[in-house]
Amino acid sequence: MKIFTVSRVAGFMCLWLLSALVATGAEPGPLQPEAARERMVLLRGQVAYHDELYYKKSAPEITDAAYDALKRELSVLEQQFPALVAGISPTDSLGDDRNGTFQLYRHRERMQSLAKSYTESELRGFNARLERQLQRNDLVYTIEPKFDGLAVSVTYERGKLVRAVTRGNGIEGDEVTVNALTIADLPRELSAKGPDGLANPVPDVIELRGEIYLPWAEFKRINVEREAAGEAPFAHPRNVAAGTLKLSDPREVAPRKLALVLYGWGAWLPSAGLPVSQRAFHAQVRAWGLPGLAGYSVGRSADEVWAAVQEFDRLRPGLAFPVDGAVVKLDAVALRAEVGATEHAPRWATAYKFAPDRAETQLLAITVQVGRSGVLTPVAELSPVSLGGAVISRATLHNADEIARGDFRVGDFVYVEKAGEIIPAIVGVNVARRAAASRPFQFPNACPSCQAAVVRVAGESAVRCPNSECSAQLRRRVQHFASEAGVEIEGLGPALIDALVTKALIRELPDLYRLRRADLIGLPGVGATSADRLVASIERSKRAELSRFIYGLSLPQIGSVSAQALARRFRSLGGLASADTSEFAEVLGPSAAAALAAYFQSSRVRVTIAELLALGVAPVASFATSTLLAGKTFVLTGTLPSFTRAQAEAKIVAAGGKVTGSVSRNTSYVLAGEGSGAKLDAARALGVAVIEEAAWLTLIGEN
Ligand code: IVH
Repeated sequence: MKIFTVSRVAGFMCLWLLSALVATGAEPGPLQPEAARERMVLLRGQVAYHDELYYKKSAPEITDAAYDALKRELSVLEQQFPALVAGISPTDSLGDDRNGTFQLYRHRERMQSLAKSYTESELRGFNARLERQLQRNDLVYTIEPKFDGLAVSVTYERGKLVRAVTRGNGIEGDEVTVNALTIADLPRELSAKGPDGLANPVPDVIELRGEIYLPWAEFKRINVEREAAGEAPFAHPRNVAAGTLKLSDPREVAPRKLALVLYGWGAWLPSAGLPVSQRAFHAQVRAWGLPGLAGYSVGRSADEVWAAVQEFDRLRPGLAFPVDGAVVKLDAVALRAEVGATEHAPRWATAYKFAPDRAETQLLAITVQVGRSGVLTPVAELSPVSLGGAVISRATLHNADEIARGDFRVGDFVYVEKAGEIIPAIVGVNVARRAAASRPFQFPNACPSCQAAVVRVAGESAVRCPNSECSAQLRRRVQHFASEAGVEIEGLGPALIDALVTKALIRELPDLYRLRRADLIGLPGVGATSADRLVASIERSKRAELSRFIYGLSLPQIGSVSAQALARRFRSLGGLASADTSEFAEVLGPSAAAALAAYFQSSRVRVTIAELLALGVAPVASFATSTLLAGKTFVLTGTLPSFTRAQAEAKIVAAGGKVTGSVSRNTSYVLAGEGSGAKLDAARALGVAVIEEAAWLTLIGEN
């Protein structure tokens, strides 16, 4: 843990140092050899530590920019103090993704890395160097997206796919063929006839190089499901892609729709078939029916290259896949051979890394929220700042460890970063602007709501309020229960729930069903009409759809997907509450089954369920009464003109269809109403049919 703290903080310091240099244009003062040696030892340790997390565990703790800054600083010091370079430096290595659980395979030709550029002048320097070396000024480049996934080598022998291997250490990698075969776009055989119908010869052996990645729509879908199941969302699609490709069971790989793009080659035998240029390569890849690169540009001068790179950066937010830069490659293959390669990268290509959207703002306060299961989550309250097209005023700080690692203090000026769809994160502190009187943040020892002493489960980073009667937990549970995803009680928003809990009108969930008109009138924003409406809506919720009711109960480890499985299996609230571990295990994993059985055994929970039933709560399990929509999966988004979401869902289920929370390639229809957002975008991106209420009613035979 110690090394973690040191490296993370030093990483930020170093980022800060770098940005301070960029801002002032100042040159760093030369370090004394002794200080340089110490710094190099520290940096090497950090780079090795983060390499391990990134390549082997697919779980990086710092941003790519912070990591690159560490490597750059080390490489600058190595150039200044060559005598201090001991053995192989991590700046020479490509990293290593081998994790010891796969068969190893030696690449026929090494998989190299790419040299990186971070500024316009570095990019222009790349062109100038090549012009000098080749003694010509008519060089042509391709500019491609730099996909943010993991590199693979896919080998075809006489047109047949024989294996897929990760980069590994560049010399040998993990053989992941069965997992790669779950990728829909990866053909088993090269097409021997081109799109023009002409013969399209295949080489004896070809190692194609490319990237396996997770498209944004799929990343979002997976995270929606995880959050529904009460699991923490993944931070970045690259980690999910890498982690997924290294799963031991291909049946677990298949549901996560990984994608592949091919952008280069290793061995190509016989070599007479080699393409003459990168452009010819891209055309050949497509002619074989392989997933080639759809969009790349061509640049005929440093100006054109720079313009194309900037254009990519501009287009980046709209791309369907994660991209962290642009790769500029010399087009002509014959010229590539002339310029050659260094130990770890070709001289004919460079990766221009985009800077993530980043802003500096003040950390005004750290508030600690109590979730419905008692987990305490610190939230950074920021001075509003515009970032990646949105105004950011809050960011999650995840947990106590995260604050301690970053040493984020109230009053600090912090760096906030946002890349693509990723939730904004605080990545560092501008230590130069820190007030002398500032003190490290003290994570509360007591629940900010009920003052109970907090507990920390061994091996978990979460800190919890253990008091099940804590009013903050209660508010959150009621909010969740009444929400659209739960039993959908219209007009029962957070402010009203606060008032009801504060006035002790709600002390536990069943009290909701004891509320009368007179209790409500006079509460903030509640008049006679809205009180009537609210009472009616609460009454209606007694017969909510069973799976939503179950989901609304905030049961341990139960998200919306598990709630549906439980509703199908147990068919009533009473049936669910009296089941045992083995019955739960028929539809849940062992840990969730045991947790649920223990939960329903608690006397407090038994009383709650008995009270709900006594109050007339009787959620309804929907069953198909027709097969009109059998095999069809729907996703609902926005507000329909004449039905609530629950009503529409019940109709779909009654017609034999299924409703899921997120759009995937398996979705048959997206039923869209007023104010549809991300799900509609996902549907368009995946080519899923989008219908409105009228067309849907026709489908279910009601129009
Ligand atoms: S060419 C010899 N082209 O970036 C160099 N690489 O940081 C072969 N990458 O290892 C790589 N998109 O994993 C190339 N269009 C692209 C790329 C790309 C992503 C990755 C690849 C490489 C890494 C270097």
